[in-house]
Amino acid sequence: MIPVFEPTIGEEEIAFVVDALRRGEISGNFGSYLERFESEFAAFCGCKHGIAVSSGTTALQLAVDAAGIGAGDEVLISASTNIATALAVVRNNAIPVPVDSESETWNLDLDLIESLITPRTKGIIPVHLFGHPVEMSRLMKIADRHNLVVIEDCAESHGATERGRITGSFGLMGCFSFYANKVITTGEGGMVVTSDDKVAARLRLLRNLGFSQPRFRHEIAGYNFRLTGFQAAMGLAQLHKIDRIIESKRRIAALYNERLKTVAGLRLPVELEWARNIYWMYGIVITPGFGIGRDALIARLSEAGIETRTFFCPMNQQPFLQRIAGFRSAPCPVADDLWQTGLYLPSGSNLSEADIDRICETIADISSHSPLGATQAS
Ligand SMILES: Cc1ncc(COP(=O)(O)O)c(C=O)c1O
Repeated sequence: MIPVFEPTIGEEEIAFVVDALRRGEISGNFGSYLERFESEFAAFCGCKHGIAVSSGTTALQLAVDAAGIGAGDEVLISASTNIATALAVVRNNAIPVPVDSESETWNLDLDLIESLITPRTKGIIPVHLFGHPVEMSRLMKIADRHNLVVIEDCAESHGATERGRITGSFGLMGCFSFYANKVITTGEGGMVVTSDDKVAARLRLLRNLGFSQPRFRHEIAGYNFRLTGFQAAMGLAQLHKIDRIIESKRRIAALYNERLKTVAGLRLPVELEWARNIYWMYGIVITPGFGIGRDALIARLSEAGIETRTFFCPMNQQPFLQRIAGFRSAPCPVADDLWQTGLYLPSGSNLSEADIDRICETIADISSHSPLGATQAS
């Protein structure tokens, strides 16, 4: 089976992790690896502070809390995203309001934002889906006009840029995931980056059970969202390879684009002229012209030993969100459609050109043997 992703772990990661273990950098908020990983990753994002946490999910939850968002507040979020984006809002007793996607980049549609703002709206969490940046300069202008906090969900966008500026550096905070399938990984792990000193201090306090002075007397209700020292060591070794990993993701996307552009009925990922897409995962959308539906294609690819995943079930369709008091959702027809028609192909940075050839030939073959695909391609 060609897997949808494979982390790139080498001797450097092993050496750093072993060194961290030998130094006793196990748990707690100390140690050279944790500090180096935080400061080097923050610098990579063009931010002053990095606060390492246990996952992308906890990074987002912590960020929403640090932003002062709470009971009854509304937060606009991308409809098409991982559930973690909505959970961060819900776990702070606030209400997520899904924003439909636009059909080109699959990111939240900036034209819809102002129509969804109410007096209760306190923030926006845009998601840079599959590595294509949201047009943050435009989003920030809307947010500033309405006095909204912006927290970027960068779980899938390490290194992606808008007009040369890196995602994670536009909003008050940027939240990253280092899960195994992400651009860089610490196994489980995440980071919040910010250039605001006060927000950084609050994030550190919240991450560490709200410990302050005197020890064991707590002014605020915190969390234990700490990252271990040996995971930070792994993250640092990964960070040293990030440019190479991103380049290989972009090369894989270019190869896919070249081989799939002539297949009828496919919509391929874009890179708008102001964007640098890092193609975390190479997503495609199946249109009727392909001849068979998305689920049938997934089944056929699986039979051929090729693993894929569907796009996200949008937030307007999540049963537990629909049951939340005050939850409201405008229709999200584009995100609904992407959930039915989108899938992503193997995108691990180790994927060989021969693998990509095999995947694309299999897709082209399925299309040309379907009645509609054959007609449209000829
Ligand atoms: C857009 C998005 N946000 C948040 C997360 C949550 O990250 P984690 O799995 O590290 O908790 C993920 C991925 O898993 C994601 O894709």
